[in-house]
Amino acid sequence: MHARAVAASTTALLGTVALLFPVSPARAVGGGWPLVIAHRGASAYAPENTLAAVDKAAELGIRWVENDVQRTRDGELVVLHDDNLRRTTDVEEVFPDRAPWKVKDFTAAEIARLDAGSWFGPAYAGARVPTLEQFVNRVERHHQKLLLEIKNPELYPGIERQTLKVLGNEGWLDRSHLAGRLIVQGFSADSVRTVHELKPAVKTGFLGTPPVSDLPGYAGFADQINPSYGSLSTAYVASVQAFTGPHGRPLEVFTWTVDDAATAQRVAGYGVDGIITNKPDVVREAVDG
Ligand code: G3P
Ligand code: CA
Repeated sequence: MHARAVAASTTALLGTVALLFPVSPARAVGGGWPLVIAHRGASAYAPENTLAAVDKAAELGIRWVENDVQRTRDGELVVLHDDNLRRTTDVEEVFPDRAPWKVKDFTAAEIARLDAGSWFGPAYAGARVPTLEQFVNRVERHHQKLLLEIKNPELYPGIERQTLKVLGNEGWLDRSHLAGRLIVQGFSADSVRTVHELKPAVKTGFLGTPPVSDLPGYAGFADQINPSYGSLSTAYVASVQAFTGPHGRPLEVFTWTVDDAATAQRVAGYGVDGIITNKPDVVREAVDG
């Protein structure tokens, strides 16, 4: 059995023990594991994918932030989850005649006018949809790390190269960032493969739960397999971690989106490497004591 698989089995056992005794598996191995990643920033407490959500994660002491990157009509990369602006901005009020309000149909200047905070709460009125450049600079200011998702790449031809260009321009492709502060992930295997081919030194993740029989193919271009927690098991995590990724290290598993303590402890028991959560404080406490 691969050493990582042995570790996962041990972890699973520790996870079971953790349910019986008030000692978490993370504490048992020294703390800080599994990693906790603030999903769209600390998005339970501040509007998702805004600079305020990055700040909130930092305030909570969370080192990793996840985001979603898309492109405007005039070619600017912006940070937003949905392919349209309706749910998380006041676009329908500001541009009532522009249905269906797709991100790709608005210029960066138009999007910069939108309020991306009021929908979440009055305290965040006036928050903006950040550009990728603004977002990575805020993450940098807090000395945090970034799990960057290229969202809907089929809508934005060339977005992989453009994302890497922005990251490079902002200093995120230097040795220290590549060594442990940046992961680029996505639901599209083609897109993740493209990132890997364009810049092999970048750590990458595939979002999904491919059959184990397909994992050798993914291991050629992805360092992580990142499934929804509902599709996970100890056996699946161990199977993933038994493969060696493109950088010669065992594949990792970051799972999403876990917002309660019991589920966090359960998936930690499966042996995952990271937990992506809207409530990073709750998950940190659950897995680290
Ligand atoms: O990081 C994992 C997670 O963000 C994937 O789902 O829809 O929230 O982007 P979604
Ligand atoms: Ca995402």
